[in-house]
Amino acid sequence: MAEGKTGTTKVLMEETRIFEPPKDLAENCNAWQWAKKKGFKTEQEMRDWCGENYIEFWDEMAKTYADWYEPYTQVMDDSEKPYFKWFVGGKINMFYNAVERHIKAGKGDRVAYHFIPEATDQPERAYTYQEIYETVNKLANGLKSLGVVKGDRVSIYMPMLPETVMAMLACAKIGAIHSLVFSGFSSKGFGDRVQDCEAKVVFTADGFYRRGKPMPLKPQADDGVKDAASVKNVIVLKRTGLEVPWTEGRDVWFHELVESQSAECETEVMDAEDRLFILYTSGTTGKPKGIEHAHGGYCVGPAYTCKWVFDLNEDDVYWCTADVGWITGHSYVAYGPLCLGITSIMYEGSPDYPDFGRWYKIIEDYKVTVFYTAPTAVRMLMKQGTEWPEKYDRSSVRLLGSVGEPLNPEAYIWYRKYFGNEVSPIMDTWWQTESGCHVISPLPMTPCKPGSVAYPLPGFNTTLFDEDGNEVPLGSGGNIVNPTPWPSMLRAFYKDEVRYKKEYWDMYWNVKPGTYLAGDKATRDKDGYWFIQGRIDDVLSVAGHRIANAEVESALVAHKDVAEAAVIGKPDEIKGEAIVAFVILNTGVEATDDLMKALRTHVRTSLGPLAIPAAVIPVQDVPKTRSGKIMRRVIKAKALGNPTGDTSALANPESVDYIPLI
Ligand code: WTA
Repeated sequence: MAEGKTGTTKVLMEETRIFEPPKDLAENCNAWQWAKKKGFKTEQEMRDWCGENYIEFWDEMAKTYADWYEPYTQVMDDSEKPYFKWFVGGKINMFYNAVERHIKAGKGDRVAYHFIPEATDQPERAYTYQEIYETVNKLANGLKSLGVVKGDRVSIYMPMLPETVMAMLACAKIGAIHSLVFSGFSSKGFGDRVQDCEAKVVFTADGFYRRGKPMPLKPQADDGVKDAASVKNVIVLKRTGLEVPWTEGRDVWFHELVESQSAECETEVMDAEDRLFILYTSGTTGKPKGIEHAHGGYCVGPAYTCKWVFDLNEDDVYWCTADVGWITGHSYVAYGPLCLGITSIMYEGSPDYPDFGRWYKIIEDYKVTVFYTAPTAVRMLMKQGTEWPEKYDRSSVRLLGSVGEPLNPEAYIWYRKYFGNEVSPIMDTWWQTESGCHVISPLPMTPCKPGSVAYPLPGFNTTLFDEDGNEVPLGSGGNIVNPTPWPSMLRAFYKDEVRYKKEYWDMYWNVKPGTYLAGDKATRDKDGYWFIQGRIDDVLSVAGHRIANAEVESALVAHKDVAEAAVIGKPDEIKGEAIVAFVILNTGVEATDDLMKALRTHVRTSLGPLAIPAAVIPVQDVPKTRSGKIMRRVIKAKALGNPTGDTSALANPESVDYIPLI
């Protein structure tokens, strides 16, 4: 792909393979049944109508998939762009939709989660909707007893466990705003987020299991909250039995809190726009952004896409491998499937424990029908060869999903064959923490091209703009934009109005106010199929997770021996991108291997294992503009052996020579 003047790209290589979905799936899937009922003749006709009539479409989805205490009086209010409101005046609660209404409908005995511990000598266990309902009620009463009220923030730093979802639900139930922090984040990463959202209460666990061994978590949680004056209590789940440091008067055991409470608890009636959660994601600066989501819209987006994209019905056994600490876990492990009353698999650990057959074994054991994972995991398993999948029966799988980064055609073909029996279509879903639910994706009746995310979903008018705000024609590329809003969209950044406007809405304000800039580039081929090209901003995508270059750089320069750092992403076969850091050391410091190793450890301690650089390389200088901005683009081009382009604007053009090939 070549960069054009306006930042648009031309499609140079076209994918010609097309995979048709199985006929009976295409005919009978939820999405096409709806289309037929409406009288649409083709999928394109349906997608077009739903985009043009998006208000009417979302109104119907909100009435179909959510239960309201009081109906809304207006579907969408855009009078205060870019602060959109959905389902104005409506009263609702996510907990009611995710759990309570299933109990009322007599479906309490249905299994919500089959929980599978990583250690094979621990029992697997089913959690019914009824059990979740009762535990969450008690937990919600427990939170109230600690003084948590509607609008308070509660941080959750817990591993992949059903109790983590219960903690989320307990917050939703009483109107507290939860903020999960992935348990693989360092104590500092966790602490920064707790301080930013001023959490009153924190949930954590004594530890978690990794490769059969108990690992501590509570000490990191303690370290994280040590400077957070807002935190009054730390609720600790006993998972491993590891001994934990304990602060009397502040720390509370999860099980004791639950046991001491009644199973009756009124669910708080929330306004549709009341906040459900804040989830932090990496932006272009070192400071993570707290993305806010609302109850009303979130009851609609994940449930609708679970029904249409994943075609989930009550007889499915559904498995999304994402950790609940990420947005994929929020929408597609917790809220989406729960709202539909689906039975899901929740697996605690990694795909290679005790061996590379673990995921296939779970699929066989539970007859998983719909499976959703990330390309990085597919590529990792692909590398292990076919002997593992061939050992297990995977014939139950009827539909696959992918998320987080482009699923390259090679991995696509392998995934389809070894997870999908060569027939199951792959829903390659493009979306973001900000969107709350899938935005661009095939539907089960869509003929798919490997590597493509197909088209914008019904209800979205997603398109591609060039730098000036002109829509780019088919066969070209540009910036992904949403010119119209959608229910599960982000509502704001926590306490950062300026950045919210700047990062998402300013770019095309003069062309069409209220156009959302996603921060990704994509191309469309002549048939209109979308291919995602990656971020336009300085954000890395490592194993499908967003990490800001600036965040890693600021961790490095916090080290006493480092004067400056520049971080780039190097294409990586398995992870998508690997982090490579160039560092300028302080005068007099010797660039030893030990120091480079220490710097990698330092990043791990500061940001967690996801952010560890694959390499730290000492250099004399890095290219900078006259205003002192590090030119990562130039560094990357030089390091990867690509043309560096015009470097005349650099303050120190000779520095380019110091960057080695990597
Ligand atoms: C990337 C994850 C290619 C993209 C749900 C986006 C993808 C960022 C895909 C959001 C996909 C997500 N193909 N790239 N199917 N899905 N991305 O907020 O760059 O963790 O902007 O949400 O992941 O990452 P986030």
